[in-house]
Amino acid sequence: MLNIKILMGSSRPGRFNIQPSQWIYEQAKKIEDLKVELVDLKEINLPFLDEPVPPSLRKYSKDHTIRWSKIIDEADGFVFVTPEYNHGISAVLKNAIDYLWYEWHYKPVCYVSYGSYAAGARAVEQLREIAGECKMYDLRDQILLPNYWENLGENGQYKFSDQQDKLASEMLKQLVFWAKGMKELRGKLNNQ
Ligand SMILES: Cc1cc2nc3c(=O)[nH]c(=O)nc-3n(C[C@H](O)[C@H](O)[C@H](O)COP(=O)(O)O)c2cc1C
Repeated sequence: MLNIKILMGSSRPGRFNIQPSQWIYEQAKKIEDLKVELVDLKEINLPFLDEPVPPSLRKYSKDHTIRWSKIIDEADGFVFVTPEYNHGISAVLKNAIDYLWYEWHYKPVCYVSYGSYAAGARAVEQLREIAGECKMYDLRDQILLPNYWENLGENGQYKFSDQQDKLASEMLKQLVFWAKGMKELRGKLNNQ
């Protein structure tokens, strides 16, 4: 069974991130034969990178790194749900990515982003550069929520439209397609 992890890229109190993360999680759960998990970086609670050697050497000395490595290692694909902070990605997400290297390799990634007019697009562009360096396969597909605060109901809940549900379904189909193919290819690589 394919394992898709949804990385929640904000750890702020009162973060909006929970809503799009939960939404894309529910959309992914509609797909058969998929194990979908929310990965809350607030709960994972990694300190600022404190490993003495770079992750490319894969010599982890801290329990939290070993735990984090296991979580990402078992994934076959990712959705990064990201805010945009000062035209970039959040420190908590960058830190979590930087902890590891091999664990990201040859796995597809797509994005849900949100913010003001640009809807987090600049943060996603940064993530695309980082994905390349980590040898992830960066899907074209992404979902953008511009000025999300204009679309909150009285209860503070974002009103996702049918069109957004459809976009999510299309994006997730792509993610599953590549996750399947790349899992097979990773198996061949490991057997060499
Ligand atoms: C430190 C900081 C910097 C921000 N910079 C941007 C920005 O560059 N572009 C943008 O669209 N929104 C920006 N915002 C507004 C965020 O889009 C908004 O606060 C959003 O809710 C943040 O995501 P979160 O609630 O999940 O943490 C910024 C917010 C914070 C806290």
